[in-house]
Amino acid sequence: MNEYDSDCLSQQLMNYGFNVTDNHEDADLIMINTCTVRAKAQQKAFSLIGRMISIKKRRPDIILGIMGCIAQQEGMDLFKKFPDVDLVLGTREIGRVPQILDRIIKGNEKVVATDLSIKCIPRERHNGYFKNRIKSFISIMEGCNNFCSYCIVPYVRGREVSRSTQEIMEEAKSLVSQGIKEITLLGQNVNSYSSTEREEVDFPMLLRMLSGLDGLNRIRFTTSHPKDLSDDLISCFKELHVLCPHIHLPFQSGSDRILRMMNRGYSREQYIDLTAKLRDIRSDFAITSDVMVGFPGESEKDFQMTIDLIRRIEFDNLFSFKYSDRKGTSAENMAKKVDEHEKSSRLSILQSIQKEITLKRNIQHIGKEEEVLVEGESRKGGQLTGRNETNKIVNFYSDIKLTGSLVKVFIKHAFINSLQGTLIKSH
Ligand code: 5AD
Ligand code: SF4
Repeated sequence: MNEYDSDCLSQQLMNYGFNVTDNHEDADLIMINTCTVRAKAQQKAFSLIGRMISIKKRRPDIILGIMGCIAQQEGMDLFKKFPDVDLVLGTREIGRVPQILDRIIKGNEKVVATDLSIKCIPRERHNGYFKNRIKSFISIMEGCNNFCSYCIVPYVRGREVSRSTQEIMEEAKSLVSQGIKEITLLGQNVNSYSSTEREEVDFPMLLRMLSGLDGLNRIRFTTSHPKDLSDDLISCFKELHVLCPHIHLPFQSGSDRILRMMNRGYSREQYIDLTAKLRDIRSDFAITSDVMVGFPGESEKDFQMTIDLIRRIEFDNLFSFKYSDRKGTSAENMAKKVDEHEKSSRLSILQSIQKEITLKRNIQHIGKEEEVLVEGESRKGGQLTGRNETNKIVNFYSDIKLTGSLVKVFIKHAFINSLQGTLIKSH
């Protein structure tokens, strides 16, 4: 989401007259896009802010801004913490940047803009911005209404609003015309997408509309909430060949008791049933997820239920976190907080189990012919790199430049983070 917002802001700034630079020492304006979903993300953002402030101290003429969820959460207080900052830009204020910059540049003001009631964020485009890219994002909705008890997102991203279908289609067409081959649709809970401007369009309908776009090879989406994953959406995976067989479906905990305390709205059994339906479509259907350890009151038994679920489902990959208190959430005030050492120990047990499962799932690709969207040269050099339909990195040797093409690769080796194979043919 932040990558997408940063791209939107960059396009707007380019329309305003700025150019993008890779080197912050050359910049006239620096915007720091921040995340506050977990304590660690917030620490990282604060340390980046500190580094950028040292540039501002040397070059007081530059404009320094903080945007994203920390900006939304802290508002004015950021000026007290960081008097060198010129702009605090909340999550729904991106569309107002040109007027805000006029105030800063011409009026010499400092600006805080954190209105969360803005329903529709105008997303300006700068033609050609995506020219050398293969894949990109489109936000289809903003905010979240779910109020999971640990989560700060509803407070910093506001209530759920869906973007108009027409705007999304136009944005997708513009991306494809610039050479984008793969689009990932974004929302905190894409399953509850609903646009009613002309006719009612829900998420499966939106997918069907996008899948008809000429030149778009792949569609992905994130994130899906298990409580809202409908049979109609599941049937899209069978029906639409451009919809990749991968889902990111956060489960958070394998214990029903903890799921209830988290206010997640589904049970362990329901989650298992959903994933079974997806793996029935094809056995290599990739399921990735988010999970946390050490939610307040999580006992050893609850933790073992999480481990058991991980072993049962065999996720292709997992993002795993230690629970951290977020300001203003209901879990912040819950009793029986789990000790930090215990959280670390549970996390490392969980991660080592998942590593084995990830490798096992990757090994199952060996001997198969897979479609790869080539993204460029691999980091180690000498090979090309891309992703297969299930979103796994595939490296292979080729003398021809194939960036942006769909190719067939025969998978020979599997590692934890990637697959390796030989090129069969390029379309
Ligand atoms: N503590 C730890 N992890 C969290 N997440 C969200 N809030 C918290 C928190 N307070 C994790 C969830 C979510 C992912 C984006 O971050 O697993 O799915
Ligand atoms: Fe946070 Fe829950 Fe909304 Fe996801 S669904 S953004 S975890 S409140």
